[in-house]
Amino acid sequence: MCGIIGYTGVKKAVPILLAGLAALEYRGYDSAGIAVQENGLKVVKTKGRLSLLREKLEHATHLQHATCGIGHTRWATHGEPSDVNSHPHATAHLALVHNGIIENYAQIAAFLTERGYTFLSQTDTETAALLIDHYYKEEKEPQKAIFRALQMLRGAFAFGICFADYPDRIYAIRKDSPLIVASTEAGALIASDVPAILPHTNVYYRPEEGVLAVLEKAQVSFYSAAGKQVQQKTERLDWNVEQAQKGGFPHFMLKEIHEEPQAISRTVSAHLKDGLPYFGENFPTEVLKSCRAIHVVACGTAMHAGLIGKRIIERLCRIPVRVEIASEFRYRNPILEENDPVILLSQSGETADTLAALRHAREKGVPTLAIVNVNGSTLSREADHVLYTPAGPEIAVASTKAYSVQCALLYLLALHAGLARGQISAETVREICQKMQHEVPESVEKVLEMNDEICGCAKELTDAEHVFYIGRDVDFDLCTESSLKLKEISYIHSEAYAAGELKHGTISLITHGTPVVALSTVPALAGKMLSAMREVAARGAMLLTVTTKQIAAKEELPADRLLLLPDIDELLAPFPAICAMQLLAYHVSALKGLDVDKPRHLAKSVTVE
Ligand code: F6R
Repeated sequence: MCGIIGYTGVKKAVPILLAGLAALEYRGYDSAGIAVQENGLKVVKTKGRLSLLREKLEHATHLQHATCGIGHTRWATHGEPSDVNSHPHATAHLALVHNGIIENYAQIAAFLTERGYTFLSQTDTETAALLIDHYYKEEKEPQKAIFRALQMLRGAFAFGICFADYPDRIYAIRKDSPLIVASTEAGALIASDVPAILPHTNVYYRPEEGVLAVLEKAQVSFYSAAGKQVQQKTERLDWNVEQAQKGGFPHFMLKEIHEEPQAISRTVSAHLKDGLPYFGENFPTEVLKSCRAIHVVACGTAMHAGLIGKRIIERLCRIPVRVEIASEFRYRNPILEENDPVILLSQSGETADTLAALRHAREKGVPTLAIVNVNGSTLSREADHVLYTPAGPEIAVASTKAYSVQCALLYLLALHAGLARGQISAETVREICQKMQHEVPESVEKVLEMNDEICGCAKELTDAEHVFYIGRDVDFDLCTESSLKLKEISYIHSEAYAAGELKHGTISLITHGTPVVALSTVPALAGKMLSAMREVAARGAMLLTVTTKQIAAKEELPADRLLLLPDIDELLAPFPAICAMQLLAYHVSALKGLDVDKPRHLAKSVTVE
């Protein structure tokens, strides 16, 4: 999704804006631009990668001394990626960057057309820029103009705005879209996300919705719609610049997969007390003890982590769990019984659909718990309760370590609930926690050591047009995530199937050489998986069999390629298994020479519906 950066201070703005945009590249974009204050507002923007913007700016030497400006990476929603649709959008008085969607842009466009305005672009954003321009001409003052325009705007937005008449200032405001503001000795900044400001500071404000930030070189002030100055709280993130860089790995995705052992062990250690799961004094254990069902709501990979959570919670606690896609949940009028908690999973904590689902659940008055990776994100602030997954920054668009730690936290929740409900003894819980803290990270390390072998298997898939993933029980859930990982970064069509379901239709697609990845980590179902593998092998499938050493020792498994996962308690097998599948997808994409970290059309943080 779009990325916003802004700087006003004593340093040169262009390099700071470009570095900030580079740090936000992970969000996904198709065009980029900046506006700086240099004898009036000057805009440079282009369709395509940041390197093109950099090239254009090399020729704009007259802008190099500017010390105030805003920048943007655009992820097209209204209007194709093009120079003219790129941000900033400028008028004679102002330049504006926007992340979000103005839902009533057509109505605003009609309002402006009646008043003589014409439009250069097809974007919703230009209507916001012109609307503020309209009120600026009436009010002759930025603050009043912005607030008057806001009364008309519907939808989600974070704006960064520069006015030509105020060459050292940036104005910024948000509603339902992320925005942070920071003040340092060398100047003030705005950004969509923390990595963009980390080289300058790790302390920042996250302005409340509808509060206007006014940034000047030496200070930042905040104002309510009534024009009153208000205080905002600072937040601090313990991530450093190094963590947000590649650290010698060719891609963020590979680096983040390699961070899984530490991330899992950190997540488990952070939520243990006396060897048992502990989530703080205010955690609603009573709700988990008495509820009759649990809802887990999320999108994409986070939703797939929810499927793993469902398996483990139902297994250990015997509470029915319903996992739902957030964008479906919110419009479905779901049946939410009093006291049945809704758990929202999200790496970013800013996903628009998950946020809307949370708000729906809160409106219905049921308890809500957010599990998020980004401290202070909107989801974490709006949910009744929040648990953090201390995975550190996840920059690659394809989520990997965030999935593993979400699963780890759901395991701990399941153990906690199982204990509270008397379904499982403290001794067993302690034993599993101990294994999660030590054996799980060790087994994931062992998978990382299989990198070359996994890369060898990936070579078999690079020319494929279709890949099928099959598994049963929890392996099927892992297949859904493995399949998503492959398709999103390698652009190979893939499907995940419950192995027993293949013969009810899909097996007709298996012909000579069709790649099938068969995942088998559940000993009790190994025999059943064997039948499914034989069925596809008999139809000529190219079979990549992924199983544990223990299962392989018992069964003669058909396989064109065999990947043997390290043995671990069956309950914990999903952790090494998913690491192997993530590496497999990674290598297919890297071998194909694709942009692994920034796959086409995708955005890291999906802040629009
Ligand atoms: C896929 C991926 C997405 C996200 C989804 C939710 O690799 O990353 O499917 O999982 O967009 O994002 P968060 O977790 O930030 O809510």
